[in-house]
Amino acid sequence: MSDTYILGIESSCDETSAAVVRSGEQVLSNVVSSQVAVHQPYGGVVPELASREHLRNIVPVARQALEKAGRTYETVDAIAVTQGPGLAGALLVGVSFAKALSWSLAKPLLAVNHLEGHIHAVLLEHKQQGGSNIEFPVLALVVSGGHTHLFLCKPLDGIAHASTTEASEQGRSAATRGSSAAWSYEVIGRTRDDAAGEAFDKVAKLLGLGYPGGPIIDRLARLGDARAVKFPPSHIKGVDRRVREGLAAATSYDFSFSGIKTAVLRYVETHGMQPEVEARRRQLGAKPSFDDIKGACDRQTLDLVASFQRAVVGDLVSKTLHAAREREARTLFVTGGVAANSELRESFEREAGAAGLPVFFPSRPLSTDNAAMIAAAAYPKFLARDFAAADFSAEATLQLR
Ligand code: KG4
Ligand code: ZN
Repeated sequence: MSDTYILGIESSCDETSAAVVRSGEQVLSNVVSSQVAVHQPYGGVVPELASREHLRNIVPVARQALEKAGRTYETVDAIAVTQGPGLAGALLVGVSFAKALSWSLAKPLLAVNHLEGHIHAVLLEHKQQGGSNIEFPVLALVVSGGHTHLFLCKPLDGIAHASTTEASEQGRSAATRGSSAAWSYEVIGRTRDDAAGEAFDKVAKLLGLGYPGGPIIDRLARLGDARAVKFPPSHIKGVDRRVREGLAAATSYDFSFSGIKTAVLRYVETHGMQPEVEARRRQLGAKPSFDDIKGACDRQTLDLVASFQRAVVGDLVSKTLHAAREREARTLFVTGGVAANSELRESFEREAGAAGLPVFFPSRPLSTDNAAMIAAAAYPKFLARDFAAADFSAEATLQLR
């Protein structure tokens, strides 16, 4: 089979990105234009501003991606674009651009689910590094600013899992097919309220630490004592509505992060930290450096931040490993913006290692939103000739199956 060059386009949230990926396994270029500076003064993504910035950036970003890859619009084989989930207006910019390209160049168009992209970021790098075959089922934890999902993934034409020697042989061949076959996805857990990244962002905001909160908390947490504040585990109370209505299995691996955010707020109030938070907010302004932020934090704040991160990471790791055991996963993927978190990576490596479960993460540039993951996820669709219909459109709440 000759090489396939796919131009990927991603515009679901606040990064405009274009990338060229060869045959789902080699990143030739991955240009990401971040809008962080635009949204920073507002402490969160402003949808209208995001759409405007995508419109401004998409053409130069795509040109740059082609140039870096040594390709032209004429020498790519297909265009892939994020269809959803994401911000409707933001998605629409990428989808309209990709449709126009596909139509004017007479090249096939591939519609990709953003979450499938995050999962394929892991597979892409694994293949790029010449890694061995992945064993199925794969349990994928997708943790980002908008999502916290646990997917059980299998190759569409594959074998679920292997336990005997013979099945193990079959498992290996399924793994081989699975590396370029399309996958099926079963949601076995998801957040009931806030996404994990959202919790990081909201806690940073309520402590006056700036935006986006994840990377700031990640660095500050290293300076605090994670045992200083005890947060109760985020138990989900009552019977799951989906279980009651027969829509889900009795075992649920759902998450909930709004409780811990409220607990942080309550801690700030009961410990009289509010005046200090206000002073920090005034002192730091809209675009502080990390050293400024660090300098504006006392020990109590650092301890609180470290304890918050420890609780969130502990919950993500323990629920995921519990699900992996019960659903007999053979491989673990951890991906999405929050997968860039150092403590999350270390914890997963330690705990999954102890359980004998191989765990894979994308590199940090491929953890957050990017178009290389979209082009990679599109490759099995290209092979299966699963092209987007001419009338397809962006879908803000697109589900992954
Ligand atoms: O995947 P992503 O770029 O966009 C979405 O699809 O949401 O994820 C962005 C999220 C933000 O909430 C950000 O605070 C979080 O990922 N994040 C982190 C880290 N880096 C980014 N959270 C914790 N630790 C990090 N190092
Ligand atoms: Zn994302």
